[in-house]
Amino acid sequence: GLKIVIIGGGSSYTPEFVEGLIKRKSELPVRELWLVDIEKGREKLSIVGELAKRMVEQAGVSIKIYTTFNRREALKGADFVATQIRVGLLEARAKDERIPLSHGFMGQETNGAGGLLKGLRTVPVILEIAEEMHEICPDAWLVNFTNPTGMLTEALVRYSKHKRIIGLCNVPIGMEKGLANILEIDPERLRIDFLGLNHMVYGFNVWIDDENKTDEVMNRYIEKSESINMQNITPMEWEVNFIKALGLIPCPYHKYYYKTRNMLEDELVKYEKGKTRAEEVIETEKELFELYKDPSLKDKPKQLEKRGGAYYSDAACNLISSIYNDKGDLQVVNTINQGTIKDFPYEYVIETTCKITKNGPIPHKFVDELPLKIRGIIHQIKQFEILGAEAAVTGSYQKALLAMVTNPLVSNDIKGVEMLEEMLLANAQYLPNF
Ligand code: G6P
Ligand code: MN
Repeated sequence: GLKIVIIGGGSSYTPEFVEGLIKRKSELPVRELWLVDIEKGREKLSIVGELAKRMVEQAGVSIKIYTTFNRREALKGADFVATQIRVGLLEARAKDERIPLSHGFMGQETNGAGGLLKGLRTVPVILEIAEEMHEICPDAWLVNFTNPTGMLTEALVRYSKHKRIIGLCNVPIGMEKGLANILEIDPERLRIDFLGLNHMVYGFNVWIDDENKTDEVMNRYIEKSESINMQNITPMEWEVNFIKALGLIPCPYHKYYYKTRNMLEDELVKYEKGKTRAEEVIETEKELFELYKDPSLKDKPKQLEKRGGAYYSDAACNLISSIYNDKGDLQVVNTINQGTIKDFPYEYVIETTCKITKNGPIPHKFVDELPLKIRGIIHQIKQFEILGAEAAVTGSYQKALLAMVTNPLVSNDIKGVEMLEEMLLANAQYLPNF
């Protein structure tokens, strides 16, 4: 049986992961599930651990659940390590959102100024985890959910000795479910070819029952495009002519780039009311942990659907199962380009549809080059990810500032400096290299 370790195991999302393992008990024989967290998260870890035990018991599945603060101990003999950490907790996320908004700029935890600061805090920690894995469980796969996933995967590829790493996000799977919903068909019948970067991914071709139905589907999608969304992003309709011109399915996060003003106006209203997403999530978490504490609760509660991470356990468990069973099926992950996109550097990380084998993901090539219409934004965001990763590792103020100012959601030198200084100060305790 497998040993799976979840770092950040005290997260309110963990019951969803446990449910995913239970659902796949016949194909994924899990012997041990270790939930690792930090001492500060003691109470959450113990509540989630107890709920996880009740869930597997109720399902009659023989997974042994362990909780610990000792990461190195947990990593011993691990086969898969899933990371879902939040350095600085939700308080730091609130600052990632609020400081930029206080300067009149988008405040979002993975995009723009907020995404940069989240990256600066998190890259050193994810690299430390990868180094420990290299030493303690060198054959284990690191499945990283932690945001900003794009910047983190880029940092892992560039700086980690551990090579079995995969970046994961629920956006592609969520978009497939959303599209199946619009078409009123079983999501199992539908698959989208995806290419781009994390939270900057585009749907290219739509396959239904293995037939290419892109053109027909695009016409129906255009009418209901706002219904492909996530809980954490304000729904807003796309301009039909723009989607027709683009000829691709944008992801919900693209609204920050193609509807910048509208999204910013919306965020500023929330900011003034004292309710950015972090504050909403803090409330949802309180509600969830009250429910989790109840010994009669033996399933994932409905309220978890208020979080943006819907289907994340499907993404994680499908990936783990396909590696373990060497399935060779197609799933969307963040991995090295490896020449798949000819006009994109060989070693850069892309988010794309891959064949998942026991040796990891192999990009499933369906276009040769990045189409001109998305080439600029992809390169610009990739530049942001790399500058951010380099800044986090080296502590270079100049690289951090370049990442800040050249991000399309900032694009201002004076405000960029102001925001960076304020944010570096506010995060000082989490920035060992600065
Ligand atoms: C989406 C993204 C995740 C992100 C989440 C935020 O699912 O893909 O990367 O963590 O939304 O949701 P939250 O409920 O924390 O705002
Ligand atoms: Mn994501």
